Amino acid sequence: PEPGWTVEADVVVVGSGIAGLVTALRCRSHGRVLLVTKALLDEGSTRWAQGGIAAALGPDDSPEEHLTDTLTAGVGLCDEGAVRTLVTEGPGAVRRLIEVGTEFDRTAEGEVALTREGGHHRRRIAHAGGDATGAEISRALLAALKESDIEVIEHALVLDLLIDEGRAAGITLHVMGEGQPGGVGAVRASAVVLATGGLGQVFSATTNPSVSTGDGVALALRAGAAVTDLEFVQFHPTVLWLGDGARGQQPLISEAVRGEGAHLIDHSGARFMVGRHDLAELAPRDVVAKGIMTRMRESGASHMLLDGRHLGARTWESRFPTILAACRHHGIDPVVEPIPVVPAAHYASGGIRTDLNGRTSVPGLYACGEVACTGVHGANRLASNSLLEGLVFAERIAAAIATVPGRGVAESRFTGGGLLDPSSRGEIQRIMTSYAGVLRNAEGLAAAERELAGMAAGAARVAPCVEAWEVTNLHTVATAIVAAARRRAETRGSHWREDFPERDDAGWRGHLVTRLTDEGL
Ligand code: SIN
Repeated sequence: PEPGWTVEADVVVVGSGIAGLVTALRCRSHGRVLLVTKALLDEGSTRWAQGGIAAALGPDDSPEEHLTDTLTAGVGLCDEGAVRTLVTEGPGAVRRLIEVGTEFDRTAEGEVALTREGGHHRRRIAHAGGDATGAEISRALLAALKESDIEVIEHALVLDLLIDEGRAAGITLHVMGEGQPGGVGAVRASAVVLATGGLGQVFSATTNPSVSTGDGVALALRAGAAVTDLEFVQFHPTVLWLGDGARGQQPLISEAVRGEGAHLIDHSGARFMVGRHDLAELAPRDVVAKGIMTRMRESGASHMLLDGRHLGARTWESRFPTILAACRHHGIDPVVEPIPVVPAAHYASGGIRTDLNGRTSVPGLYACGEVACTGVHGANRLASNSLLEGLVFAERIAAAIATVPGRGVAESRFTGGGLLDPSSRGEIQRIMTSYAGVLRNAEGLAAAERELAGMAAGAARVAPCVEAWEVTNLHTVATAIVAAARRRAETRGSHWREDFPERDDAGWRGHLVTRLTDEGL
């Protein structure tokens, strides 16, 4: 649709999690900064982050050790230069987050308290409010935003990139809020930063909030940008099991609970991760998710159990108040009984390909946070490296941004296919969960491809509305994930192929790049 109104800015940042907020705050010297966000400012994934933010802050730790753990978790596909940047700039970036006002939990001596999570050989996870780290970071950054002159448009779904002679020149967006320009409009800006978060809503059960519909990846594909590593969707091992068929956002049980000593057990009480990996329950996330799924299959059980009774009531109350409340809300008391858990979609390790300054393959278009693929995660993100990635690379993007005046011509590839009916959301999620979830094989992925293509072919034309854009984005992203997952004929990190159960370094130690052309993906 043609934009009904236009706003001018120097930099437009899309998204209000840690990546978007830090980018916007640090871009103030570039002129007029506009931040747009799809729902309310604090509705993205950041505020749901529990465990914390990883950085080599402890006296017994070093960036080199953080690097080693990150590379190991990424199973041969991390970009070592990107990881080195992350781990060396990480401690300083976390200290600057403290200067902005973030209050991390402290030890009795006043040092930042550090915990462990899967894949970390050291205590290096800073946390806040026990298990409400993201909420505290979000609070501090939003307070700084309020003090700034950054303009904000809420309830604004980004649609497409404006392109001027091959360069990003702004965005189109659909605004639903009151007291602001409504309908479809345009922001003209010479630098566009996508910090739109993840795509977990492509699956039926996820830890992601309902806004995580892959809008940034879908936009980037339509704009012709290179997207990479999409097959690596990480499943968090321990999500509260709410019965088979649970849908939408599910309560997360942080890895930090295992970091503080809780054990995974099967229904006979056996610790099934012991013997599967040296780190047992604290193995990297993909290993633990596979261990749980394997034991579920062997025993025919619908879920496994996380036993943290020995932590005691006092630890539960002080370290994990959010998780304790969520469990009790659902009738489980972790102080006296094990928690039923199951893996669920959690994090896209892939995304829009960027360099070390967040530049995508389209000049003037930057990507930051979960929507980006900087190369730090490889085939499986190390726990609590995501908030850190958003933070470190936001600072780098702000330092690298060059603003160039331009006209801004809309270019959209939406026109051909039309929009999908919002009621198809559940169907996309069903297809992805059945065929492209934790366990994949050629037959299932072919069925997913067929069924997704069939949905697009049979799609009725619907009037543009936010729900229709979202479901169309979900469909684009689902199709791209399935295409990458079909091609990668090996098992690596969070990509688990039943029909190719081994890692194949000779054939597959490389990245799959997805691009949308006139012929499709
Ligand atoms: C958690 O608290 O377990 C989540 C941490 C993460 O996703 O990095």
